[in-house]
Amino acid sequence: MNILQIGLGGFGKNHLRAWAQMGKIRDLRVVDLSEDRLGEARHLFGIAADRVGREYRPFLKDADVVDIVTPSDSHAALCEEALRLGKDVFVEKPMTMTSREAERLAAEVERSRRILQVGYYYRFHPIAQYVREQIRRGELGAIRCLSGRFMGFKRARTDVGVTHTDGIHFIDLFNALIGESPREVYALIRDHFGRGMEDFSIVLMQYPSGIVAQVESGYIQPGNWVDRVVPNAMTTKEITVVGDRKTIRADFEIDKVEQFEVRHELQNGIWAPVHGLCTSPRLRSVTPVELVALELEAFLKSVADRTSPDPNVVESGTKLANVMEAVYRSAKSGQAAAIQSADVQASSLASLIEAAPVGR
Ligand SMILES: NC(=O)c1ccc[n+]([C@@H]2O[C@H](COP(=O)([O-])OP(=O)(O)OC[C@H]3O[C@@H](n4cnc5c(N)ncnc54)[C@H](O)[C@@H]3O)[C@@H](O)[C@H]2O)c1
Repeated sequence: MNILQIGLGGFGKNHLRAWAQMGKIRDLRVVDLSEDRLGEARHLFGIAADRVGREYRPFLKDADVVDIVTPSDSHAALCEEALRLGKDVFVEKPMTMTSREAERLAAEVERSRRILQVGYYYRFHPIAQYVREQIRRGELGAIRCLSGRFMGFKRARTDVGVTHTDGIHFIDLFNALIGESPREVYALIRDHFGRGMEDFSIVLMQYPSGIVAQVESGYIQPGNWVDRVVPNAMTTKEITVVGDRKTIRADFEIDKVEQFEVRHELQNGIWAPVHGLCTSPRLRSVTPVELVALELEAFLKSVADRTSPDPNVVESGTKLANVMEAVYRSAKSGQAAAIQSADVQASSLASLIEAAPVGR
């Protein structure tokens, strides 16, 4: 199999290590705009000179699958070009900048019968899989609310705002955990740096079932741990899922899961907590590279079996693009924004973000 990886930046290096871990270096061609990054890849993994380059097009026609790890605003065009040439594609999140682009890609996937998988790697995390299974088995009872914090001091990305790069991980994860997409969002974002995109964000979501979720993200709040992906950064990546029988709190950075069997009962006119077992299951610890390898393996399995990936292009592309546009519409208007199938589509995110409130 001929694999073409496009993009060898901060996260592209993790993809390269994951391909190496999977024993795929011999099948790999790597493209990046930077000669230095290509040189480093050649040096570290012994990739032949004729298998690296600064232009992707000369490599694209012979590729069977394409792995896109370039900045987010380049994803839509690269995906479309690869799909049109009949390639199966793995693309890092977010799939596109707008819902219009997402729908074009979904239509191209449908027409071409190609595989397109988006890199939401928390779905593959043992913690996420454990929580999903607990919910599926009814262990938590009825889910009431979820909250997530994905934040910490780190460099501000220049392709998209913090909701669109970090918050979106937990928005996607929450959708996966409860098997729904939000019907309404209310968002507060701030652009303290004055870059035209947010560095702080709080998104409240309401799901059709009535479940409520909150995702906080940002570069200006401290994190608890040294970030395992971004150099020189501190991070917090934790979620809480509250059910009427059990609550789970999990910290992805230190692989810690706590389960509380606590419910409230009316006792002498007071709603008081009744405490049951508090447990902390030990789950397999995984590195970011192992997680990328897990999702790339799932992608290659979809390619081999010709089955739709999980998440599919609608879940991980179109629906999330609709949520993101509603986030920016809400932040701009100061009102909750509904997410409907006939969503108001933005041709550019900038038009939604530019008038959002800015605080210093
Ligand atoms: N899943 C995760 O947890 C996670 C973490 C970090 C980044 N990401 C995603 O990965 C993507 C890349 O992020 P990054 O931090 O590596 O960005 P980056 O800016 O560090 O690197 C991007 C690389 O792409 C290269 N590039 C850009 N256009 C190119 C082109 N046309 N042809 C060849 N190379 C090209 C650049 O030279 C650069 O080396 C983003 O979409 C980001 O959202 C995902």
